[in-house]
Amino acid sequence: MALILAGQVLSFDGSPFEGDDPCEHVRLNEAVLVEHGKIIAMGAPDVLQAHAPTAALHDYGHDLILAGFVDAHVHYPQTAMIASWGKRLIDWLNSYTFPEEMKFGDRAYADLIANRYLDLTLANGTTTVSSFCTIHPESVDALFSAAQTRGQRLVAGKTCMDRNAPAGLQDTPQLAYDQSAALIERWHDVGRLSYAITPRFSPTSTPAQLEAMGALWKDHPTCLMQTHLSEQTDEIEWVKSLFPQARDYLDTYEEFGLLGARGIYGHAIHLKERERHRLREFGASLIHCPTSNTFIGSGIFDLAGLMAEGQRIGLATDTGGGSSFSMLRTMAAAYELGQLNGTALHPTQLLWLATQGSATALRLDDKIGNIAPGLEADLVVVDLQSTPAIAQRSERAQDLWEAVFPTLMMGDDRAIKQVYVAGQPVQTSR
Ligand code: GUN
Ligand code: ZN
Repeated sequence: MALILAGQVLSFDGSPFEGDDPCEHVRLNEAVLVEHGKIIAMGAPDVLQAHAPTAALHDYGHDLILAGFVDAHVHYPQTAMIASWGKRLIDWLNSYTFPEEMKFGDRAYADLIANRYLDLTLANGTTTVSSFCTIHPESVDALFSAAQTRGQRLVAGKTCMDRNAPAGLQDTPQLAYDQSAALIERWHDVGRLSYAITPRFSPTSTPAQLEAMGALWKDHPTCLMQTHLSEQTDEIEWVKSLFPQARDYLDTYEEFGLLGARGIYGHAIHLKERERHRLREFGASLIHCPTSNTFIGSGIFDLAGLMAEGQRIGLATDTGGGSSFSMLRTMAAAYELGQLNGTALHPTQLLWLATQGSATALRLDDKIGNIAPGLEADLVVVDLQSTPAIAQRSERAQDLWEAVFPTLMMGDDRAIKQVYVAGQPVQTSR
């Protein structure tokens, strides 16, 4: 059935990081027409009604209607141990993460957490994620099945590790290749699902496993490849000791065919000049995870500098290293880290990062991440006065951006009034 959603419909016809005016590429419409899961047109409600007389009209008043948020780097298996206290990356992995990930060989537990995770993220307005799973194929089947049932677009992959992890969380180069290949066969490009080859990070893979992952990517070049890069300084020192011949951290991937245009590199905080140059040359994607970078004490991502040199950048929660499921909270953290680095990100830039920026980073911008004719109708309706604190601030706003910014800084799942997945309203549970 056709739907017309009326409100402040916000879309982009370019990046707000390009040019002098961050509002130059923003388009506001009064309504959007959706049919058969796709966006058909934007415009005035009466014009859209003339176009589709049988369409049902939902009037959201002054609410903002956006593309659903795209979270470009998450670990759904870390849902139940989010907000674990007091450790930095390596200790945090060993103390909290690996024990939890051990449980995902049990398909029933994987199903439980996969559905809990998608419930939580949908309630926060996130319609697509790119997720690491665990070493267990069951964990991958659980998440893809849950997303398929909901009609959601999803990127995910089996996390491969063959050293520096508990025995129960290790595979081998051959097993990693074979199990990943079978999962690609089962899920890649099935409906709205796509597969990301997922070596966790170079400390937990032997050179032989990285080589196997490189060979797998070569055999399946339409897959994405997701991993971690240069998150913490002691991690980088560890990588140096494990790969003494490597020029830098990125080189441990590059040497094994794991640098490419469809490569997605989480964190990328402490990059050397050569690494920046090679990432840009290949058109690889860097994923900014600001709540994680503060929560586990990783450092400050050079968003402004990397954007200025033309890197492809997405935004992510990095749940559960990140301390939130909310892309609103994540935009607030990105703003705060930007301020510490001397750049005030404009609300249009924050919203673009959380939608089209992340979709572009995942090479899905021809399908999701914006409101434009032909794109899939994953939409979120945002209440700009969702709490008394936000309402009293946005009431005195002089323009739209001043009305939006308090929700970006102080908003949470209470601001998410409605979510549509492929044009269907979703019943979210908070
Ligand atoms: N590096 C390797 N694994 C992880 C993980 O699970 N979370 C984060 N934040 N960094 C990682
Ligand atoms: Zn991560």
